[in-house]
Amino acid sequence: MKTTTEKFGATPHQPSLWTRADALKVRADDPTTTQPLVSADFPVLNNDVFIWDTMPLRDLDGNVTSVDGWSVIFTLTADRHPNDPQYLDEDGNYDILRDWNDRHGRAKMYYWFSRTGKNWEFGGRVMAEGVSPTAREWAGTPILLNDRGEVDLYYTAVTPGATIVKVRGRVVTTEHGVSMVGFEKVKPLFEADGNMYQTEAQNAFWGFRDPWPFRDPNDGKLYMLFEGNVAGERGSHTVGEAEIGDVPPGYEDVGNSRFQTACVGIAVARDADGDDWEMLPPLLTAVGVNDQTERPHFVFQDGKYYLFTISHTFTYADGVTGPDGVYGFVADSLFGPYVPLNGSGLVLGNPSSQPFQTYSHYVMPNGLVTSFIDSVPTDETGTQIRVGGTEAPTVGMKIKGQQTFVVAEYDYGYIPPMLDVTLK
Ligand code: FRU
Repeated sequence: MKTTTEKFGATPHQPSLWTRADALKVRADDPTTTQPLVSADFPVLNNDVFIWDTMPLRDLDGNVTSVDGWSVIFTLTADRHPNDPQYLDEDGNYDILRDWNDRHGRAKMYYWFSRTGKNWEFGGRVMAEGVSPTAREWAGTPILLNDRGEVDLYYTAVTPGATIVKVRGRVVTTEHGVSMVGFEKVKPLFEADGNMYQTEAQNAFWGFRDPWPFRDPNDGKLYMLFEGNVAGERGSHTVGEAEIGDVPPGYEDVGNSRFQTACVGIAVARDADGDDWEMLPPLLTAVGVNDQTERPHFVFQDGKYYLFTISHTFTYADGVTGPDGVYGFVADSLFGPYVPLNGSGLVLGNPSSQPFQTYSHYVMPNGLVTSFIDSVPTDETGTQIRVGGTEAPTVGMKIKGQQTFVVAEYDYGYIPPMLDVTLK
């Protein structure tokens, strides 16, 4: 297997590299890039379901959009099973942690609405049972297409396989609430190709998911970001000088870091409707650094491309580490080169005293960052925890050049609209 630069040598653009040297600059608990402590007495949005990845309704330019004054979010959602014998421990108590950890296998898309951009009211499932072709409805993006309320929901149909799909429906409002209608025909768009993006056959732990379509503010064309891994058999990747970067003496040993091969993928639409897509080489690779760059998304600000992606401590390679949270990169043009924000890439991480308090951060163009509560310790030692499965407090962040700064904290799940569309 070739190094990243050799592999993508003849392609239209060179992927930017998140290097091991960049990642060595990660500093956990820097207050300017650390999410404030989430208190263990957080409120729960809904006690019947767990929610995690949150996807605000938006337009193709990235603006969070309300309709007729109603804010709308989509969430990955799974039932809670407090009375299911399968989730009771030896003492007959509900093992919520096991139920929570199993949620990915039964993830479904739900929606919620609100007049205030918080205190979300339960809407229900977006697609009826049986509409989505696979067991799991994983993350993606709901796009409001026009003032007739048409919505394209891009998401990932997982198990078997992992296919980026879309389904079209309509948002309907009344003075009492919001409903989703249609969403009956799921259209497969594309899967990993094994050439640029790793397939399941090449690596059983491959990632290929989380579509984020957008209109490029400069060329006006329709593109899509997604999460992938760099193609090639598991274990065959090379962590060479380019992937290592400029490290101090004594940091050349990369251990088993060839197993970490995350990338941020990009595709371009061949048609105006986004029904026909062509995959392009990744925008960013993290070979030798990290195995997951999930839910990639952009903020377009000051003529720059701010690329954000979420990642975990446990997916870092040997010899590098960082907190669970959102990482970011900036470029002057869509295809890069991308430079890690704050030197390291770390933008908003969990504090080391509560390493799993939040995840799946989504940076909105107004600088607000939403995420969900995973688990928060309830005692000094961190052995007792309270499982979340609900919205975390929103964080306010300033993006300035190549740096970011935490500047505010807001209410749980506060996702205010940036514009309102009156439906015709
Ligand atoms: C992020 C994530 C996404 C995926 C979903 C699965 O939290 O791992 O990448 O679509 O959750 O539950």
